[in-house]
Amino acid sequence: MIKLLVTGGAGFIGSNFVRYALHAHPDWHVTNLDKLTYAGRRENLHDVMDNPRHTFVHGDICDAAVAGPLVEAAHYVVHFAAETHVDRSIMAAGDFIKTDVEGSFVLLEAARRSPNLKRFVQISTDEVYGSVPEGSSVETDELKPRNPYAASKAGADRLAYSYWATHDVPVIVTRASNNYGPYQFPEKILPLFVTNLMDNIPVPLYGDGGNIRDWLHVLDHCRGIDLLLHSGVNGEVYNIGGGNEVKNIDLTHRVLKLSNKGTELIKPVQDRKGHDRRYSLSSAKLKAMGWAPQVPFEQGLAETVAWYQQNEWWWRPIKERDPNYRAYMDAQYGKRG
Ligand code: NAD
Ligand code: DAU
Repeated sequence: MIKLLVTGGAGFIGSNFVRYALHAHPDWHVTNLDKLTYAGRRENLHDVMDNPRHTFVHGDICDAAVAGPLVEAAHYVVHFAAETHVDRSIMAAGDFIKTDVEGSFVLLEAARRSPNLKRFVQISTDEVYGSVPEGSSVETDELKPRNPYAASKAGADRLAYSYWATHDVPVIVTRASNNYGPYQFPEKILPLFVTNLMDNIPVPLYGDGGNIRDWLHVLDHCRGIDLLLHSGVNGEVYNIGGGNEVKNIDLTHRVLKLSNKGTELIKPVQDRKGHDRRYSLSSAKLKAMGWAPQVPFEQGLAETVAWYQQNEWWWRPIKERDPNYRAYMDAQYGKRG
């Protein structure tokens, strides 16, 4: 049986990937190492927790005694675990350096000793390129991360590469654009806005709303990673972009329409510090391998909005009863309100 280790598999993309991998590969066993930070939730795995091909391990990637043996036992590692929210990294960056950089280092060190390891996928992000005024980023472009989250991811991205170049660890680096889909923590723009609108709470739009993000359905992301596990080339970087560049104000209008709400619920707030204006990826390298996004944005967005509307059991306890969430929201939006 093929052994896949997923780190951060109780988070948004990780939980979608665990579900995807169990379904797509009936001969795989998935071990899922997650610290269950505020963003990692057992609820995200409610339908796979009892699957005999899934083993959940509650632990920290920075803990070599826990993470090391799991990496050493794996054929494939897909490393999602990270602190991921830009606004939190602007408030306090320590956890980002610890988990994103040092945690990746712990896993890569273990990967050097892993006898059967075929692939170590370092999940990076389009944010490492920094803001892209025109054109689209290709994998060889200079990295110019502009916020502490993006810089921590860029550090891990290049550290992983160095373990391929120096130690021959079978590393592949992926840089994806903004994912959307079910189980995204409601501090990110889409789930925050959809769930606010359900309660007629205004949606806080940063700055002039003209910032552009490229939206990728989480399952298209999963399919891209799967293709690279099988057919990628070690030491290479692959962009995974959705090809749906949308201004935040336009995204907001679409969500308002899908929610049957009016524009009076848009609340312009102070801009994010160092707010990257635009991300844009060329995915030509991955497309040449046969990958293409399958979920049309209009359809994916409508389904995603409907998912949050139909799954209050999932998000309402976070928004209404999680003290970490409440403290973050007060710190973040209190001052902007
Ligand atoms: P998320 O915040 O929803 O989940 C992160 C998960 O990592 C959580 O389950 C959390 O408990 C876990 N985790 C955090 N610190 C840990 C530690 N020290 N040890 C073990 N587990 C730990 O994040 P996401 O949005 O699903 O992103 C997953 C990965 O994809 C990240 O590496 C992120 O940088 C990258 N990425 C995200 C996007 C996006 O749009 N969300 C786009 C490109 C790349
Ligand atoms: O681009 C990939 C990145 O996408 C990932 O690497 C990150 O982990 C992920 O969090 C995401 O980062 P963003 O900063 O792009 O996502 P966020 O949802 O926080 O913000 C999306 C855009 O919406 C951004 O331009 C800021 C804006 N925004 C966000 C929030 C939370 C608002 O206008 N209001 C808000 O309340």
